[in-house]
Amino acid sequence: MPDNDDFTARYELREFPAALGADGEPAPETAASLAQVGFGFHEPNPKPGAFKRIAEGLAADGVTLLGVYLREPVAGSIDETWPAGTFAWFSKALSWGDGTTIDTQAISDVTVRPTERRRGILRRMMTHALERGAAEGFALAALTASEGTIYRRFGFGVAIRERDITVKRARALPFLTPTTGVVSVVTPESLSESGVGRRVFDRFTERSIGSMVRNTATWPFVLGLRGRDGEPVRNVRAAVHRPSASGEADGYVTWRIAERPSGQTAVEIIDLVYATDAAYLSLWEFLLSIDLNDLVKYRGARLDDPIVTALADSRAFDIDHEEDHVWLRVLDVPATLQSRPYAADGSLTIEVVDALGFARGTYRLDVNDGRGQVERIADGSDADIVLDVAELGALLLGSVSPVTLAASGLLRAGDPASVLTLRSMLTPARTPHGITYF
Ligand SMILES: CC(C)(COP(=O)(O)OP(=O)(O)OC[C@H]1O[C@@H](n2cnc3c(N)ncnc32)[C@H](O)[C@@H]1OP(=O)(O)O)[C@@H](O)C(=O)NCCC(=O)NCCS
Repeated sequence: MPDNDDFTARYELREFPAALGADGEPAPETAASLAQVGFGFHEPNPKPGAFKRIAEGLAADGVTLLGVYLREPVAGSIDETWPAGTFAWFSKALSWGDGTTIDTQAISDVTVRPTERRRGILRRMMTHALERGAAEGFALAALTASEGTIYRRFGFGVAIRERDITVKRARALPFLTPTTGVVSVVTPESLSESGVGRRVFDRFTERSIGSMVRNTATWPFVLGLRGRDGEPVRNVRAAVHRPSASGEADGYVTWRIAERPSGQTAVEIIDLVYATDAAYLSLWEFLLSIDLNDLVKYRGARLDDPIVTALADSRAFDIDHEEDHVWLRVLDVPATLQSRPYAADGSLTIEVVDALGFARGTYRLDVNDGRGQVERIADGSDADIVLDVAELGALLLGSVSPVTLAASGLLRAGDPASVLTLRSMLTPARTPHGITYF
């Protein structure tokens, strides 16, 4: 990596809000940033109007953009107008699952052009952004990653994982217990126009630890109105669940039917949102009842999915893939740990190692009546638990057990009882579930 002087001699780092100009079109710096992001993620060149829609979403979400620009671009190259590195952040609330939330510095759109890679652009953008996030008062940063090996070095840990699953229709029904309520097919437009989609999502987020507020631009896609490319779609169907025919909707699903390379037909779930466990089960039962179809595929399942135990034959359930979903990075240990609810009372001292310094220190956590009090104590004090800030992030939602991290050598404790105490404290009321991508 070049030293600071080399970096500054070659590049200029600029920070600016995502914005539209007076003519309603993306401001030039915003448009150039979007062009580089599309290039970095191998997206096709945008159709007319696409940047305007994306920029409107970014501006509505209050996104801050970073651009790293070459000071001496090669004449005639895109370096003359586009940044070589892009980075974005905005505020996104993360649910603790008990009706309370914490605002995270949500990081997105991280790209570096291949001609400038491995010259320290990402490191510079990340350290700048985290310093700004800490100064703006964020206790926690969050991101979703395209690769698993980039972000640990910056203190991010995998706080929630997700699964792609398939349920084979032939052996799935009947469920072992009867479902309740009423499922009805609706138009995707009605989910949006009636506000049902967002209301159900808000209720889902309130009760689901790990759920995060969605980007403005996400809604037309998940509700089946537009594709990822922003173009209108016509092949998406929707259904809602109500506890009774006249009750308020407490769940919805959008899906499309696709032919698989195997020749089988699959219902592909786009969005499945449930404010109650009954809604989740009933919507699955409905999807598994659709005739002229072999499989139901879902790309956002939680690790401990109740559907497995509900099926007539649990072998109808297959895990196709599992990977990291949300990564968390603690910037302020007391603020983060005092924001979270706890399942058990107790006291522990925790030493946090942090190469970037934000969270470094030894802290005493006292939990009484499910709420934590945190005090920083003298560095060098004996601690019950020693871990890197990336592991603290991994533990926050209760998706990863401290017992597992101790077994993998990433968490150290003089007394194994401390690890069990921490596990009891952090155990969430429900399996964490996040269905927000950013
Ligand atoms: C990933 C990406 C942003 C890295 O940018 P970069 O400017 O080359 O990274 P830097 O030179 O600042 O490297 C910072 C550190 O990350 C490491 N690193 C960078 N990219 C990495 C990768 N893909 N896998 C593993 N390590 C990586 C570097 O080795 C370096 O390590 P060190 O500082 O500990 O020595 C860039 O390769 C890219 O745009 N990739 C395509 C888009 C993408 O994947 N974006 C991430 C979206 S979540």
